[in-house]
Amino acid sequence: MIGRAVTPALSLEHDVLTASRSSGDFQVDISDPVSLRALFASTGPLDAIVSLAGGGVMAQLSSMSDDDFDRTLDTQMKGQLNVLRLGLEVVAPGGSITLTSGAAAQNPMPSTSAIAASCAAIEAFMRTAATEVEQVRLNVVSPIFVKESMALFGLPTESGLSAADTAKSYLAAVNGTMHGQVLATPDYA
Ligand SMILES: NC(=O)c1ccc[n+]([C@@H]2O[C@H](COP(=O)([O-])OP(=O)(O)OC[C@H]3O[C@@H](n4cnc5c(N)ncnc54)[C@H](OP(=O)(O)O)[C@@H]3O)[C@@H](O)[C@H]2O)c1
Repeated sequence: MIGRAVTPALSLEHDVLTASRSSGDFQVDISDPVSLRALFASTGPLDAIVSLAGGGVMAQLSSMSDDDFDRTLDTQMKGQLNVLRLGLEVVAPGGSITLTSGAAAQNPMPSTSAIAASCAAIEAFMRTAATEVEQVRLNVVSPIFVKESMALFGLPTESGLSAADTAKSYLAAVNGTMHGQVLATPDYA
């Protein structure tokens, strides 16, 4: 959902390559370091990486299966941490890596425990990595609920932010100078 707004927005100023498990210019499973290394071997050096991968499962603890739990942590958390740690090998000095967390890390909501834990881990990992890495800017965009996603869930959309406005945080992270920051999407809309 968010990627569909970020890709055209970034493409206005940059050459953008897209990747996911089933669509885009390249196929990759970010939960698998071998797959991610193969992707970066194919792309060669990059100026910036933006990770918008999802895959988190919304479920109450009482009904969350082992598979739900593992899938959320493997893709949303570990997958994005893989993007940062392996991405550092291909991003040119002066470039940037931007990951995605979510407001769930700060605002507890039912059925989002594994997602919230993943978001918090992504932010902590990036902040700590930013104390070690100087040549590449590391940041996380933390979206609030996207209006288009709320509509898909049949929720009222007033409190959300459009995907197009959400994309502005990613433009700021890629084009700006910040390092070690968590960007809340309403601040850049
Ligand atoms: N939408 C919201 O309201 C909202 C709010 C707060 C935070 N977020 C966070 O923002 C991110 C993007 O959300 P979204 O709504 O745009 O999600 P989305 O529409 O589900 O898109 C997620 C993308 O990730 C790809 N993906 C999933 N698992 C992958 C894997 N293992 N390897 C590579 N690619 C993978 C999917 O493509 P394939 O299936 O082809 O791999 C898809 O293109 C997520 O981390 C989400 O938690 C979203």
